Amino acid sequence: MKGLILSGGRGTRLRPLTHTSAKQLIPVANRPVLFFGLEAMHRAGIAEVGIVVGDTHADIESAVGNGSQWGLHVEYIHQEAPLGLAHAVLCAEEYLGDEPFVMYLGDNLILGGITNFVHHFLTHRPSSLILLAHVRNPQQFGVAELDASGRVTRLVEKPKQPKSDLALVGVYLFDHSIFDACKAIRPSGRNELEITDAIQHLIEHGLRVDAHLVEGWWKDTGRLEDMLEANRMILDSLEPAMHGHVDEVSDIHGKVIIESGARIARSTLRGPLIIGENTEIFDSFIGPFTAIGSGCRVEGSEIEHSIVLSDSSILHVGSRIEDSLIGRNACIVKSNGRPSAYRVMVGDHSRVEIR
Ligand code: TTP
Repeated sequence: MKGLILSGGRGTRLRPLTHTSAKQLIPVANRPVLFFGLEAMHRAGIAEVGIVVGDTHADIESAVGNGSQWGLHVEYIHQEAPLGLAHAVLCAEEYLGDEPFVMYLGDNLILGGITNFVHHFLTHRPSSLILLAHVRNPQQFGVAELDASGRVTRLVEKPKQPKSDLALVGVYLFDHSIFDACKAIRPSGRNELEITDAIQHLIEHGLRVDAHLVEGWWKDTGRLEDMLEANRMILDSLEPAMHGHVDEVSDIHGKVIIESGARIARSTLRGPLIIGENTEIFDSFIGPFTAIGSGCRVEGSEIEHSIVLSDSSILHVGSRIEDSLIGRNACIVKSNGRPSAYRVMVGDHSRVEIR
């Protein structure tokens, strides 16, 4: 069985970060989301993985390389434009050949991994196995309808009036019959070849589509709130570790990970949280569910429930920063200049809340 990870797409919901970087490389607990998918592939016994890439291919390729750090052999498949998940499958047809494969959306996180699902597929050999989870807002997902025996009868992409609360999770297993289905369907109203339509095509042609309910936690990290929730879940699952330096007047509570070269002075750290390599935290409070990347500086400030990417500074900010996602090389600083005013240079599609 081969793996296919989808890491193209537009990432419009995570602008402005996705103007300059791939959304699959935005970190949770200081590790790119995509790395969790690669790990899940390896743990499920998959060795050959194709990654579908688009405009951000250079960043993805330099972060993942040939996959050897996960014990994988990774190849890249170029998708000329984000024309839909089924389009991405067709781009990979030559790479995948006749082998069954597991398709994993590169911005999804499944805490329990995918090993059980791969095992189910290889044992029962349906044409497709889809993963489902109960959600509160099915209108925002591909939604499945099942018959009394649990067989999938219909899939609808983002239905206005959903008939169930069972959403498709971003992992799918297929045999080669999916290629004919992807070729048979037409682009949807949003001009994408939808994987839900391709699976519906399998069902209508009498092929067996099994469904598996995901019991553990999973997340599609497409929006800021989802990134923060994923960060929370992963931070909570990590073991504390101390590789940096903390002075004797600082207070450390709960699960705290301090990476090498980090320095903490005169500060309070209340975990779960992670402080990246060579980051300096002085005279500050870092609250629960915060991930601060490498090479950052936080001075005289308070921050919690946030993600800060590498090489950013937060200096003497008067109010606590919460629920925030701060990009690379960003600087948030209190100014004493006159006239007293907010001075910002904010990227396209950014959002700043001021009180
Ligand atoms: P989505 O989150 O559905 O789409 P998107 O990345 O374009 O994001 P947004 O809606 O915010 O604009 O994509 C799910 C995953 O699949 C994600 O990792 C990107 C990837 N993808 C492709 O590789 N090719 C595609 O054609 C599409 C639509 C998505």
